[in-house]
Amino acid sequence: MVRALFAEVFGGAPASAARSPGRVNLIGEHTDYNGGLVLPAAIELATRVSVRPRADALVRGCSRERGEARAGLYDPPAGHWLDYARGTARVLADAGLVRDTGFEIAVLSDLPEGAGLSSSAALEAATALALIAASGVAEVAFDRPELARLCQRAEVEFAGVPCGIMDHYAVLCSEPGSALLLDCARVEARAVPLPDGLEILIFDTGIERALREGRYAARRAECERALEGARFALGRRLASLSELVPSDFERLERTLDAVALRRARHVVGENARVRALAAAFASGDLEAAGAAMFASHESLRVDYEVTVPESDALVEDARGLPGSVGARMTGAGFGGCTVHLVETGHAHAFATGLARRFRDRFGREPRHWFSRAAAGANLI
Ligand code: GLA
Repeated sequence: MVRALFAEVFGGAPASAARSPGRVNLIGEHTDYNGGLVLPAAIELATRVSVRPRADALVRGCSRERGEARAGLYDPPAGHWLDYARGTARVLADAGLVRDTGFEIAVLSDLPEGAGLSSSAALEAATALALIAASGVAEVAFDRPELARLCQRAEVEFAGVPCGIMDHYAVLCSEPGSALLLDCARVEARAVPLPDGLEILIFDTGIERALREGRYAARRAECERALEGARFALGRRLASLSELVPSDFERLERTLDAVALRRARHVVGENARVRALAAAFASGDLEAAGAAMFASHESLRVDYEVTVPESDALVEDARGLPGSVGARMTGAGFGGCTVHLVETGHAHAFATGLARRFRDRFGREPRHWFSRAAAGANLI
């Protein structure tokens, strides 16, 4: 279908096409840029692109969902969806993976934008795979983790979002049926199969989370401040907050300001909860899995302060419903989505029940999606 859209808009056939899933993070929030652990999974919602290189430097885009756009490859970012594709192309050209030319790109996506399911990482990853396949320079060896780093760079430099590595790694490197336990300091991952009989449900708070608004960057800055304070208080070289251990907190409680202390406490606790959830999946201990997810949400609410009343309500209301295993906000927060693990046999009744409670509280229907853990991006 994305090839047909290409032909309709630009005429002729595209040179290549690729798809990338979005991702949902099961646990490990705001730990990626703190050198910690995350446990995301790719989801079935995806973005598809088809591309054709041009001889000149013009980039023309057509997205069924976001409309048409055009800009020069080297024009500055315009605050438009095409920035993600142009940024990716420029970073890949810098790395010698594609030729330094403009291109046409058609995009079809069922991933909601601004909901915290990594629609921008998906656009970058799909664009990257398609451009590399189309360029003929593709003989150059590249590996997926390296590609994830390049796509992350495109997002930071061209879209102006100071994100970590999690989203790009998840959409490029996930395996079906598994979450990805990623150590963001070493940038090393292993697949953690999800227990049988579980469904992933994603509920949208409907509060659009605008990362550019600066609250995400503010959290990063607070963590930098906490790290500086911890280095000073402990007299140790620390590469990140994830190198703190629980016994450090006795001293940190006396020296860090209250906000910095709460941010550091979240990061250290969250890394432990990622390990706990991965272990619970391995042993099939659903009670322990749920406990880790609910505790993560609580820490994001109280210590990291990135939840909203809508996500708090979706998590709280999930507790009492039959088949509910665990729930928490997912992604950056400030709105966006919640993720729920639910026993498959109960999933539909669970979704209906949770939607009804949300409607009673907030007077509107929440969007929601069912998904299995899906495969990472590929050529189509
Ligand atoms: C956004 C960023 C990620 C990560 C999460 C919070 O999704 O893009 O890198 O920091 O927020 O865990």
